[in-house]
Amino acid sequence: MLNEPVLFQQTKPTIIRIWHWLVFLFFAASVSTVVVQSLFFKTRDNVQMVQNKVTEKGGLITPDQAKNVAHEYSDKLWDLHKYIGFGISFLFIWRLVAEIIIAKEKKIKRRINIAQNLPESNKDKKHYLMVQYSYLIFYLLFLIMVSTGLILAFEDVALLKSLHRTAKNIHSLCQWGMYGFMLFHITGVIIAECGDFNGIVSRMINGKEAN
Ligand code: HEM
Ligand code: HEM
Repeated sequence: MLNEPVLFQQTKPTIIRIWHWLVFLFFAASVSTVVVQSLFFKTRDNVQMVQNKVTEKGGLITPDQAKNVAHEYSDKLWDLHKYIGFGISFLFIWRLVAEIIIAKEKKIKRRINIAQNLPESNKDKKHYLMVQYSYLIFYLLFLIMVSTGLILAFEDVALLKSLHRTAKNIHSLCQWGMYGFMLFHITGVIIAECGDFNGIVSRMINGKEAN
């Protein structure tokens, strides 16, 4: 059919492209804090090291004091994670506002509708829909990470105290979904770029229509 839209070749609006690369930066920074924390700054792993270093220099320190020192470093890193998280929360609101103001045919719901109405013979239909559904799953996980992260960040608010444990468990569990999406997405983009859809990464940067 002549009038069928060419899937995967539509450009994203500037407001989404800038948002996307900021999301990439902030998510990379957030995940780095989690990785550095679990590799080097777990309180439990560092108590013995603090004790050894102090006694090496001729000082005296109880395990409880050493635990407090080790915990301070871990807290610093979580503070950084929290501030990056505020940036991520702002980006979530940015994406919501963008969805409202972008052209109708660029909205995710409309993109899915257009693809669903294409004939089954369209070779990219299934693939394109799978990619759009993966974005929907990502946005759901994004909402969960931001809301549970904010509950953890404002733990001093009396109303949120009772939700702390549940939020921590959900936040901790959903991180795996996020890593799953990132792996799936970046692998998919690289395969697409090297295969039939070359130019999608530069299009996501410069926004120029494919020739
Ligand atoms: C890619 C997104 C994110 C990932 C992978 C992630 C991952 C994690 C992980 C693994 C923990 C430790 C949970 C535990 O102790 O069991 C954590 C804690 C936390 N996260 Fe996130 N997070 C993300 C986004 C956010 C956002 C958007 C916020 C919002 C402010 C946030 C705020 C927090 C806070 C306040 C804590 C508790 C730190 C503490 O124990 O003092 N996170 N996060
Ligand atoms: C933290 C890592 C990343 C996240 C969370 C992420 C998230 C997303 C999301 C949600 C979209 C869809 C935007 C929308 O239309 O609503 C998207 C599109 C896209 N991303 Fe990423 N991204 C990440 C990293 C990357 C990287 C590293 C690349 C390049 C190597 C990349 C290339 C693209 C491209 C080319 C598209 C457009 C694909 C299409 O036309 O459907 N992304 N990304």
